[in-house]
Amino acid sequence: MAMWDGRFKKVIDERTNDFNSSIKIDKRLYKYDIMGSLAHAKMLYEQKIISHDDFNLIDKNLKDIYADINSGSLKFDLKSEDVHMFIEKELTDRCGDVGKKLHTARSRNDQVTTDFRLYLRDESKNIISLLKDLIKTFCDISLDSLDTIMPGYTHLQRAQPITFAHHLMAYSEMFLGDIDRLNDSIKRINVSPLGCCTLAGTSHNIDGFFTSHELGFDRPCNNSLDGVSDRDYVIEFNSNLSIIMVHLSRLCEELVMWCSWEFKFIELDDAFSTGSSIMPQKKNPDIPELIRGKSGRIFSNLFAMLTVMNGLPLSYNKDMQEDKEHTFDSIDNTIVCLQALIPMLKTMTILKDNMLNASKKGFLNATDVADYLCRKGLPFRDAYKITGKIVAYSIDNDKCLDELSVDEFKSFSNLFDSDIYKYIDLFECVKNRKSYGGPNPDLVKKHILNVLDIIK
Ligand code: ARG
Repeated sequence: MAMWDGRFKKVIDERTNDFNSSIKIDKRLYKYDIMGSLAHAKMLYEQKIISHDDFNLIDKNLKDIYADINSGSLKFDLKSEDVHMFIEKELTDRCGDVGKKLHTARSRNDQVTTDFRLYLRDESKNIISLLKDLIKTFCDISLDSLDTIMPGYTHLQRAQPITFAHHLMAYSEMFLGDIDRLNDSIKRINVSPLGCCTLAGTSHNIDGFFTSHELGFDRPCNNSLDGVSDRDYVIEFNSNLSIIMVHLSRLCEELVMWCSWEFKFIELDDAFSTGSSIMPQKKNPDIPELIRGKSGRIFSNLFAMLTVMNGLPLSYNKDMQEDKEHTFDSIDNTIVCLQALIPMLKTMTILKDNMLNASKKGFLNATDVADYLCRKGLPFRDAYKITGKIVAYSIDNDKCLDELSVDEFKSFSNLFDSDIYKYIDLFECVKNRKSYGGPNPDLVKKHILNVLDIIK
């Protein structure tokens, strides 16, 4: 028997019911649905819309239903239209007519978006805590890699020497930005739609501020139409996860490259790698590849949400039921990616010698030669030109810059002296880059300690 039985002469077609039903997806919101209902029932009692006895009965039975779902003794009826209908029906089965009073001054339209906001507030915090674990991992590895020289790249061409700590702390900044975005979005998630009812509020003497406060929201929605129509917070949340996945995918691409024989900057632990079914020598970085690949579905879920909402007239439309499946998929996948990545990073071996050796080839210290001449009074553009000639000469003679003799240097400019070697030593190059945010180990250490403090 459907809830709207009075209006209809026929029962719903079975396939239509299955198509229309969202319980298989939204059952995961049961905790938040019950939280919302408990707050709503309390408000109805405080406002004298239901009696104290009715409130007690509803309150007790909702809590029992919650415990029974948790213990597994109450199973979801997959024929229900959604989690809201299921819980309301169960309540009515348990406490009769009193259960039917719960939906006074409420609609599933304000109910569903209340549930979703409560859920996304929790999931945002969950993801923030995983991001903090990840950042802590970068900081720990970086503290051990403050003077691990590696090539810094532009265009994937060796550019200037940096350290592994400096490189990883760049990622730490990106993920701190993600935490900031999630925290900022919580402000927009944390608004209570309860009391908007179906779209136009209610003539009952409700108190939306009471339910808002009860549920830890900052305030009730200011416009009942917007309250039930708005899914901007869902789009924004999906966008936050998409940006996290861009960051994960960039990092994973680097990890994949770094494990290749062409780089060999790191070695993944056996426990976090896979072999090949045919090539006995293979050790594959499946985990970072899969994370890189999974970014696609998280972006597509954001696009799906934008498309679902695009052009929808106010207020609620059933299209909006699609919001949950996409968002749940993005949450689940972002979480598994973070959970797979963190222990893999913690256990990987950093092949410091290979990083250093790679830094020796490719004239990474050429800018430092130009800067040397510049400091001796040559305009930078002239210093740049002379250094270019020195690099061309070194390529022709198959030498690195530090293998050139003082005389060879002097043949390009008499500003050169034997102190040049001090400036082009890779460790010195890194140490000398003391500009704010640069790779100087003392600066990077300060940055790490600062970040560790932020994520405490
Ligand atoms: N299952 C629905 C959803 O997720 C709940 C709201 C239904 N409201 C309605 N007027 N049919 O969007």
